[in-house]
Amino acid sequence: MKFENLYRRDYGKLKQIVKFDGVRKVGWRSPSNIALIKYWGKRDFQLPQNPSLSFALSKSFTETTIQYYFKSKNGISLDFTFEGNKNELFEKRVNGYLNSILDFFPFLNFLHLKIESKNSFPHSSGIASSASAMSALALCLVSIENDLFGTLKNKKFFFEKASFIARLGSGSAARSVYGGYSVWGKHPNISGSDDELAIPFGIEVHPKFQNLQNAILITSSESKKVSSSKGHQLMEGHSYANARYEQAGNNMTSIVKALQSGDEENFIEIVENEALSLHALMMASKMGFTLLNENTWRIIDWIRHYREEKNVFLTFTLDAGPNVHVLYKQADKSKIEKALRSDLIRFCENDKWIDDQLGSGPSLIT
Ligand code: PMV
Repeated sequence: MKFENLYRRDYGKLKQIVKFDGVRKVGWRSPSNIALIKYWGKRDFQLPQNPSLSFALSKSFTETTIQYYFKSKNGISLDFTFEGNKNELFEKRVNGYLNSILDFFPFLNFLHLKIESKNSFPHSSGIASSASAMSALALCLVSIENDLFGTLKNKKFFFEKASFIARLGSGSAARSVYGGYSVWGKHPNISGSDDELAIPFGIEVHPKFQNLQNAILITSSESKKVSSSKGHQLMEGHSYANARYEQAGNNMTSIVKALQSGDEENFIEIVENEALSLHALMMASKMGFTLLNENTWRIIDWIRHYREEKNVFLTFTLDAGPNVHVLYKQADKSKIEKALRSDLIRFCENDKWIDDQLGSGPSLIT
């Protein structure tokens, strides 16, 4: 556990906080991300069973600000408001999370935190917010450490620790601290990749895949009947577990090549295989279930037909839910959007969809 030991050992000495007067403030806007190679199944504490690859979204993000001041009484202390309202459920969760990461941020014992958080997308839109929320919070925490102790001036170390800390809150959040494509989980062909934290993809991506558009079609905004944590758990002892981890590794090898060479056909094959495998695993798990609905399938069918008929780069991926992430190129935007409005909107709940795209990653709120 290279990074765990590094962060524990190096920051142990910070238990002696430097007392300061007044209130300080930090804030980060951090995006959600969509995985092309899926993380599904974990081991030990929040470590992935296979490597995953995603890209940052642009318009789906969380903004979190923290005001903090010194207090001498030892112990985590916070107020949490979500979209302007006190939210006791979230406050309790954040309290538990902060207590669980005290070994890495012992100084939190001596601060009172006033945390305000809001999302760019509606809470009940069916968009998972854990990646953007946990990465925004983690970025604020590493910023506080750096502000108080100057220990994370090196940009690479700053974002690596943010990714490590975000991962402890939600696995996929580890990838949200970077813009563009990022990788979490060790893979032999990606140098520096690691199970403990995500890294930027680091390999030149072909221009074809540099400005991917992502229309998120909301077929249902209901909350999931089976949570992601439960889904990860169901991979333990799953009959297909080992085959899945091998498949993910192989798909990662292939997508790295496709991203570099601009091989659209292979890209589509891998991305759709990953999306459907994720949901096939859910169906084949002990408590067999599906998160997809009939409109998910209608949209998938339509995408495949349209691609065939028009010979255009158009594909889809799915998160742990029924909403479809439609992927296409910027150059085809007006054509695809027109088709989407005329043929697909009717499968969306209250005509809801989000016009998103590959984004440049988190930014500091000044
Ligand atoms: O980060 P979690 O525990 O919510 O798991 C997310 C899993 C998927 O979104 C389905 C895939 C992924 O890699 O993001």
